[in-house]
Amino acid sequence: MDFEKIRSDFPLLSRFTYLDTASSGAISRQVHKSIVDFIDKWLYEGEDWDRVIKDVVEARRIFSSMVGVKGDEVALVPNTSTGLIAAVSSVKWRNESNIVLAEHNFPTNFNVFSAAVRNGLVKEVRVARYIDGRIPIEEYEKLIDENTQIVSVDLVGWLTGYREDLKTITKLAHERGAIVLSDIFHAAGALPLNLRDLDVDIAVCGSYKWLLAPSGAALLYVKKELLDTVLTNCWTGWIGVEDSVVERMINGETRLFERPLPLLYSRPSSSASRYEWGSWAGLTVVGLTESLRFFQKLDMNLSWRRIQKLSSKLVDELVEKDFQIFSPLDEDRRSGIVSLVLRNSYDVAEILSRSKIIVSARPGILRISVDF
Ligand SMILES: Cc1ncc(COP(=O)(O)O)c(C=O)c1O
Repeated sequence: MDFEKIRSDFPLLSRFTYLDTASSGAISRQVHKSIVDFIDKWLYEGEDWDRVIKDVVEARRIFSSMVGVKGDEVALVPNTSTGLIAAVSSVKWRNESNIVLAEHNFPTNFNVFSAAVRNGLVKEVRVARYIDGRIPIEEYEKLIDENTQIVSVDLVGWLTGYREDLKTITKLAHERGAIVLSDIFHAAGALPLNLRDLDVDIAVCGSYKWLLAPSGAALLYVKKELLDTVLTNCWTGWIGVEDSVVERMINGETRLFERPLPLLYSRPSSSASRYEWGSWAGLTVVGLTESLRFFQKLDMNLSWRRIQKLSSKLVDELVEKDFQIFSPLDEDRRSGIVSLVLRNSYDVAEILSRSKIIVSARPGILRISVDF
């Protein structure tokens, strides 16, 4: 695979030393063109709404094959946080239940579940903490009990870049009757993934980082078996119901509004589409779908190996220069994110940006993200 050629389709990468995919991914000329073509057509001929719906279906299909699940287990939602809330809001809570989170999860995760406690749905949130640079499985063993309903662990930590051993965690959680939710925003698009193999129950991934697409969309995976068993309190809008316009289109109908739409007696779609509550951001959808077509052609194993090689080289050189690495040093826990402990990280990021090196500063941390 010729990565130099691939990179040449992303103008940002030749103009800057761009090491900030964990904030926002570069977009390709092809993604840019799909959006420009769509809006040009819109200007003169009106919005090509049918195209948006077709691309939604295509995006679900490609993403599902990227992460090893079925097309009807994936929904396209407006952003990661909304996807997370959509799925969590359909859980039927038991009395006295608790939630177990990983310390490295993104704030949305903490905020959603602390709201669940505040609103009286959940009794308690427990946090699995790092010990010597790892969250040992014993930490989860200690926290997950028969009252745990959800174990929510980001596959890759947004600040630490810590890549969690989800398979071991899902096994433990399932043995104790809990389901596992994972934010895979810093994993999908960076490393090969098989969610079925990991046995994760719910996963969500936004469009605008490692999937190299515009913001305004996220892909939500929900294991089919959970839809009317564990996730029974589902809210729907006009899209996520049986016989919605999207289902009509998929079934080959062309006059989508000829028959009345489902009203009072509507039922949630039998697929993950039930979490798609309303219209999509068309411009984002066409850009995202184009980017997913790129990933369909990319050899993810080779791309991941390249990311691993580059990030290892970076870690080795930083260690040699006595920088304190915040990210894990063990190979089996590393991702595309390499963070350093740096008190004046904002100053350093600003100085680097003057030399066209783009990284991001977070409190006391300089985050460098390495893509292909
Ligand atoms: C791991 C992770 N999850 C979620 C988000 C927020 O995603 P969204 O804005 O799509 O809700 C971020 C943003 O940085 C993130 O890093």
